[in-house]
Amino acid sequence: MAIISTDILRAAALLKSGKLVAIPTETVYGLAGNALDESAILAIFEAKNRPHFNPLILHCGSVIQLSSFVEKMSPNAVKLATAFMPGPITLLLPKKDTVSELLTAGSDKVAVRIPNHPLTLALLQSIDFPVAAPSANPFGYISPTSAAHVAAQLGEKIAFILDGGECNVGVESTIVGFDEEDNALIYRLGGLSIEAIEAVVGKTILLTHAESKPQTAGQLLSHYAPKTPLYIGNIQDLVLEHGENNTGALVFERKNLLISAENQFVLSPTGDIAEAAKNLFKALRFLDNLGLNAIFAELLPEKGLGLAINDRLNRARAEYKSQH
Ligand code: TXA
Ligand code: MG
Repeated sequence: MAIISTDILRAAALLKSGKLVAIPTETVYGLAGNALDESAILAIFEAKNRPHFNPLILHCGSVIQLSSFVEKMSPNAVKLATAFMPGPITLLLPKKDTVSELLTAGSDKVAVRIPNHPLTLALLQSIDFPVAAPSANPFGYISPTSAAHVAAQLGEKIAFILDGGECNVGVESTIVGFDEEDNALIYRLGGLSIEAIEAVVGKTILLTHAESKPQTAGQLLSHYAPKTPLYIGNIQDLVLEHGENNTGALVFERKNLLISAENQFVLSPTGDIAEAAKNLFKALRFLDNLGLNAIFAELLPEKGLGLAINDRLNRARAEYKSQH
């Protein structure tokens, strides 16, 4: 079983020797390995049971370190890096040859990010290589937002989990790339809102899932999914459709009277969308562990982090999971 500790020197030593270490970030926990070591990259894919066509994000401790792995940064890339790094944003930029195609899944672009978590920033600044780090969950399952979540799923496969407490943001970083005219393209909705990004670079273009994942849209549509079937919509309608026997609900502000209270998780009693994002994956895990026949979830208002939350809920749906 993995050691859970706050010892960054030990984490650094393990990474240097080619081992994998789970690291806290402000979004979700990552499963980190030396990004310049191809056997560490392969070990990440192996531990997560992740298909090799799905590329990994390169995590750095500073913009200077990051810039040594990208060919160039467009004016809007520089603006976003200046405004939001470290923070819950990932930039998709032309890669240098020093970045392995194993990491980028053959693409000439690399996804780069500087996580905003004090322990992990200190760790990244203490080593002389970047780390590759996907979310520290088995492929397709709910992302972890605490050290205990990581231990529950990957504890047998990794030696060390750096414990940075609960993640503050709770959903993965927003992934932003750029077209020929330097317009910002949103590849994945995430912990930095579109509103915040547009305030810096103007109008963005939201890529649909099929466009951003040309390889196998159908497969990747199902993601972040609990084992219990999850249905999305108005809770009352869902109860009418599926019955209320042994069911639970993920609700935004208040519990629904049709379902037993102990089988419900309220994301934010005060209606705060950022708090709801922080609780989302914890709530899905809680409900998934109750042994229910079905989980019903209502969508959030389509603004701020509500977009990212709804994206995750939609891709966790039972209908998509049964497609493959
Ligand atoms: O918040 C986050 O971004 C977390 C924490 C740990 O930093 N990491 C994370 O990694 O969410 P992961 O591997 O679960 O998701 C990375 C996403 C994948 O959907 C992948 O397809 C996309 O980033 N991605 C990575 N490199 C890419 C590339 N070169 N081109 C297109 N998409 C890329
Ligand atoms: Mg992931």
